[in-house]
Amino acid sequence: MTLLCVENLSKTYASADGPFAVLRGVSLTLGPGESLALTGESGSGKSTLLHLIGGLDRADAGRIMLDGQDIARLDDAGRAALRRGTVGVVFQQFNLIPSLKIADNIAFQARLAGRYDPAWCATLADRMGLADHLRKYPEHLSGGQQQRVAIARTLAPRPKLVLADEPTGNLDETTAATVMALLLELVAETGAGLLMVTHSQVLAARLQRRLHLRAGQLA
Ligand SMILES: Nc1ncnc2c1ncn2[C@@H]1O[C@H](COP(=O)(O)OP(=O)(O)OP(=O)(O)O)[C@@H](O)[C@H]1O
Ligand SMILES: [Mg+2]
Repeated sequence: MTLLCVENLSKTYASADGPFAVLRGVSLTLGPGESLALTGESGSGKSTLLHLIGGLDRADAGRIMLDGQDIARLDDAGRAALRRGTVGVVFQQFNLIPSLKIADNIAFQARLAGRYDPAWCATLADRMGLADHLRKYPEHLSGGQQQRVAIARTLAPRPKLVLADEPTGNLDETTAATVMALLLELVAETGAGLLMVTHSQVLAARLQRRLHLRAGQLA
């Protein structure tokens, strides 16, 4: 079954110069275990598209089918469940919870979703090289370490679809490559689909498929 099916999606923002059509009929599909890189100039609407798919914002027209469900037809509870369990989102900002230790940051999303699996969280921490940091607080970790915590937290509930918006944009090239390799490895192991925004052609080349967003449309 198709994991994600986006059909003819449109989104227009109001701006000082009048309405601005960011997405003009965007369509794409993604199967389970498939990885897709999304590139496009700054301002082309990549984050907007990810927000719509993640249920964080609503499209003006078109349809998003996720795991067999039309997400526009979900009520608030349904959308919340989607955000907690079915879709995992990694943004460029780590958004870790400062008052929680690393172990609890990793477990946070999974606990919310009622899908906390201590063994899987321990595996994620281990693979991400965070085993020695579990009792620390986010402020005591480096940027690259915090980004790995954010990725582990996203994967902890075993989402079916991972949406990543420049997940390594803040990291130096070497660290970015390491973190990306880990992300791809773990996503592949869980069988999740991956839709990743990146400005890096090198990173895009590591994914199975690539699409480019230009003038509100994908090619
Ligand atoms: N909430 C909003 N209200 C009005 N305009 C917005 C809003 N969010 C985004 N935009 C505009 O929509 C366009 C697309 O923004 P978006 O963040 O999706 O781009 P992007 O491709 O992710 O860019 P970048 O690579 O810089 O992250 C931009 O011109 C932006 O100014
Ligand atoms: Mg963006």
